Amino acid sequence: MEQLKAIILAAGKGTRMKSELPKVVHRIDGQCLVDYVIDAAKGAGAKDICLVVGYKHEVVEAEISHQDVQYVLQTEQLGTGHAVKCAGDFLTGEGETLILFGDTPLITAGTLKRLKEYHREKGNTVTVLSAMVDDPTGYGRIIRDENGNFIKSVEHKDANEAELASHEINSGMYIFDTKELRQALDLLTTDNAQGEYYLPDTLTIIKNKGLKADAFALENAEDITGVNDQQQLAEAAKIIDERKKTHS
Ligand code: UD1
Ligand code: MG
Repeated sequence: MEQLKAIILAAGKGTRMKSELPKVVHRIDGQCLVDYVIDAAKGAGAKDICLVVGYKHEVVEAEISHQDVQYVLQTEQLGTGHAVKCAGDFLTGEGETLILFGDTPLITAGTLKRLKEYHREKGNTVTVLSAMVDDPTGYGRIIRDENGNFIKSVEHKDANEAELASHEINSGMYIFDTKELRQALDLLTTDNAQGEYYLPDTLTIIKNKGLKADAFALENAEDITGVNDQQQLAEAAKIIDERKKTHS
């Protein structure tokens, strides 16, 4: 019955790594960052996995260990929504689709399973993974009403002062009803502060259709932490090393 797919966004260069290599193929304990994300998706039950690649895509395809993934090319980086649109041909049929980033090696199968279970229990059409953080600067903010119900996700650059006060951040990871994702992608516009196709706007599109869009908040942000520079790469390596020790 279950048909779970995953799309992993990995088209960016990763300028702050100050490296010749695309960010997602930097290694921790011999494995590419994106290989950890693929493992987590598979562990959560994803059968078909599609990587959206762009910058030095031939290097990315050569470095990745997993052979059983598909690739689509995003030649111009027009935003996270555009990146998912590039994988449109992969988004066929019914079932559910996870959207993940290639630069978050700390995401686990266990956390993605909790996201999937919450999404199903609530009967949601889309659920974004979120987390409470001390410093939300730069991240998309999750906005809720006074009863804690999800309203929307707003990018830092588009947020007003009240919205910027939210410490609940959008992780960039989601689970969608595949059919509704397909339809929502067609309605995205670039009418925002960055002139990009924002994937978070699909939350509002789906909610405005009368379907359920929601956020599943993690109490600990470790699993959603991305790697943007060499220091963060070293920190992620330390956490992965500690996790391996506790589980062996
Ligand atoms: C994104 C989210 C933000 C969230 C944050 C978490 C949007 C609009 N914003 O912001 O709400 O808090 O992630 O880290 O989605 N990518 C592509 N192609 C593109 C654009 C991005 O492949 O055209 C990939 C990048 O390589 C990167 C990831 O998607 O791995 C995120 O892109 P980025 O531009 O860094 O998004 P943020 O601005 O950080
Ligand atoms: Mg980012």
